[in-house]
Amino acid sequence: MDEKPLNKGNPDEMPKRIHIKTYGCQMNVYDSERIFDTMGTLGYKETEEMIDADLIVLNTCHIREKAVEKVYSDLGRIRKLKAKRTRDGKKTIVAVAGCVAQAEGAEIQRRAPIVDIVVGPQSFQNLTHLVFRAQQEGTHIIDTNFPSDGKFANLPAKRNPKSCTAFLTIQEGCDKFCTFCVVPYTRGAEFSRPVERIESEVRQLAEAGVREITLLGQNVNAYHGEGRDGAPWSLGRLIDAVSEIEGLERIRYTTSHPRDMDDELIAVHRDNSKLMPYLHLPVQSGSDRILEAMNRKHSAAEYHRVIERIRRARPDIALSSDFIVGFPGETDADFEATMALVRAVEYAQAYSFKYSPRPGTPAADRDDQVAEEVKAERLRSLQELLNEQQAAFNRACVGRRMKVLFDRSGRKPGQLVGRSPFLQAVHVDAPEHHFGALAAIEITQAGPNSLSGKLAQDAGYTLESRDRVQHEELTH
Ligand code: 5AD
Ligand code: SF4
Repeated sequence: MDEKPLNKGNPDEMPKRIHIKTYGCQMNVYDSERIFDTMGTLGYKETEEMIDADLIVLNTCHIREKAVEKVYSDLGRIRKLKAKRTRDGKKTIVAVAGCVAQAEGAEIQRRAPIVDIVVGPQSFQNLTHLVFRAQQEGTHIIDTNFPSDGKFANLPAKRNPKSCTAFLTIQEGCDKFCTFCVVPYTRGAEFSRPVERIESEVRQLAEAGVREITLLGQNVNAYHGEGRDGAPWSLGRLIDAVSEIEGLERIRYTTSHPRDMDDELIAVHRDNSKLMPYLHLPVQSGSDRILEAMNRKHSAAEYHRVIERIRRARPDIALSSDFIVGFPGETDADFEATMALVRAVEYAQAYSFKYSPRPGTPAADRDDQVAEEVKAERLRSLQELLNEQQAAFNRACVGRRMKVLFDRSGRKPGQLVGRSPFLQAVHVDAPEHHFGALAAIEITQAGPNSLSGKLAQDAGYTLESRDRVQHEELTH
């Protein structure tokens, strides 16, 4: 590129500041980190305060209407903020990135003319270039291309992890085309990164102190990236390879599709102690009629069978899911089937949503949309049940011992907050040197959304290693 750096190497200029607001899923969290890394190559520094930012990036989500409306209401506030900065003689570039950018393109700048740059989730690696153009030309710029070599090849190799836990996108896009979902349109066709690239990113993160990694993909268990031998590798094989990397202690992955839970991956849940006993496996509905209309490609009975296989391999696994209530044509009986499925599975936690018609998706055009009040009432009942199950799962942890990875300071002085193997937040009074590391904790209290515990006094083994084998022995 022949572009001139914006301010790098000019000691008279203050470093430029960037503020990113992230909406939506973990893949956006990963992308936002990579946007920081990309802009960091031009000397941009992060600021917590939007008002101080020379470059404001909204990394957006298009999955439900609410998420999109939030972006437009934030842009309304940013318009005032930009005007104030202009009065103070400061230039501000506003970029809308992510899935709203991909889906709405120029419409964003029509509704919100203060937006200088619209950049899709497959092209933000070009942001340095786009910012430069916006500064020089002062015009509206749109880049929603899908580069043929993939964005990953053009991102800076270096990452700057801020925590002992990190996300890493290994797969993007989706070929499943559920009839309610925009992802196949905003993120495009399935693409898996090669194994060696992933390993080198994990190695670098582990050297920088990362102990837990979450492998991300819209359809992560459909992973089929090129392996070291040139053949496609499955997710199970990738997890085994990554688990060999020194310093890395825990692996998670999300989000999976029930159809792609193969035997190899389930065996890794049984055999690899670094893979955490937690699985987010969206089912969306418990009614076969609705699953068919959603084009989910599995029935409720097939979902139950997958769960059974996983539980046989890893009896203590904590299960999570996504549910949609009020999909077009959903009757009381269909909704009851969803409640029955939840009662049968018993989730450790879950996410549930009212169906939101998304422009361009097949279900949005159906003329049997469910009334808003019905959706609201169904969501209330479902969430009540899911909350009860989550509280019961948390209560069952009291008195148990488990390893916790401390990744945050608590609100109270002397308190650290970490994650259990089952992804629960655990609050513990612990000295600062435990920060960024694993410690054995005795769980003493459970709340609806988190646990409390104390440092275990002796070196007894924990749930993360040998207890698991005991569970298995009991069930066989
Ligand atoms: N309406 C409501 N929820 C949706 N999801 C995806 N699309 C929609 C929609 N149109 C939910 C699904 C998915 C999760 C990420 O978001 O449950 O698994
Ligand atoms: Fe969307 Fe997931 Fe269905 Fe793909 S599998 S279309 S990402 S809900």
